[in-house]
Amino acid sequence: MSALFQPFQLKDVTLRNRIAVPPMCQYMAEQGVPNDWHLNHYASLARGGAGLIIVEATAVSPEGRITPNCTGLWNDEQAQAFVPIVEAIQAAGAVPGIQLGHAGRKASANRPWDGDDHIAEADTKGWQTLSPSAIPFGANLSRMPKAMTLEDIQRVQHDFVAAAERARDIGFQWLELHFAHGYLGQSFLSPHANQRDDNYGGSFENRARFLVETVRAVKQVWPDNLPLTARLGVIEFDGNDEQQLEEAIALTNLLKAEGLDFLNVSISFSTPTASIPWGPGFMAPIAERIRHAAAIPVASAWGIDAPQLAEHTVAQGQLDLVMIGRAHLANPHWPYEAAKTLRVEKPSWVLPAPYAHWLERY
Ligand code: FNR
Repeated sequence: MSALFQPFQLKDVTLRNRIAVPPMCQYMAEQGVPNDWHLNHYASLARGGAGLIIVEATAVSPEGRITPNCTGLWNDEQAQAFVPIVEAIQAAGAVPGIQLGHAGRKASANRPWDGDDHIAEADTKGWQTLSPSAIPFGANLSRMPKAMTLEDIQRVQHDFVAAAERARDIGFQWLELHFAHGYLGQSFLSPHANQRDDNYGGSFENRARFLVETVRAVKQVWPDNLPLTARLGVIEFDGNDEQQLEEAIALTNLLKAEGLDFLNVSISFSTPTASIPWGPGFMAPIAERIRHAAAIPVASAWGIDAPQLAEHTVAQGQLDLVMIGRAHLANPHWPYEAAKTLRVEKPSWVLPAPYAHWLERY
């Protein structure tokens, strides 16, 4: 029996299998409002059979967008535009999740296919970026951010809470806070970005403070019966890996005490000089370490495209959920291919009946 196709329950949410679509920005929104592109994209992914669909990094405030075309959830127009997307995901039998984030010093960028660099400072399409300290990321993202004041910190935390309330009110059932990939949450944790000398910088406790407080604040408004989760970059691959992993485990324990239910284990991406050992499923053993050391259910992504590898990570207890990203862009029906490869009984029925019946019949 396939481990990948066993249901997974967390709080009052039951996923039909262990396959999740990780958040993947589409860079197709205007003014943060999702549109038909997003509706078709997410409906198609949900019909493909995954148990959980996490909608792309959605900004809690205008300056928190990565690009001018990122989705947002800072106003009611945006919230209403997400309603049909939530409904389509649910109608296809998947659980609708959303990742809420703030891009910090990596905000105000051109779309990946339009350069993937910071918008020129003279261009009015861009905006002032925020970060714990006035230190640019570097490389293609060299715009100098503004060091956040205490008022900025409180406002952004309030923005996270307001966005979480909107996500709750329109029916998202799985909330992921984006504390990974060099964006704002990650930047508070990382000495590459955080050189503050107040309560939010310096010691591990101080660098963790923004994340701990944000989870605490969001927990006040997010329903107790639904999963409150985060995506955390646990390792930079910059030579200080062991310290980062130990801090990630300590932070996960702090966040658990605040009500975090689940961790999506990822890469930190706080410095352009990292040396990342890309390879199939290379993050799974790292996620397994966090899973055991912090006693928390985990997911991870990164190159787990092969069904046998996905099966292995769950069967061996490395991951509770497997995030299948780009393979879903290539084939939104990836779970059907996996079900065939793993010899699941009646594999076509991971798809909706109008497809499944015919695939089974002939
Ligand atoms: C991503 N990724 C990503 N990660 C995240 O936390 N929030 C996001 O919004 C995005 N956006 C995004 C867009 C696109 C087009 C891609 C390809 C990737 C990273 C993504 O969630 C995942 O971690 C990676 O794609 C690695 O997993 P795969 O693709 O190897 O399965």
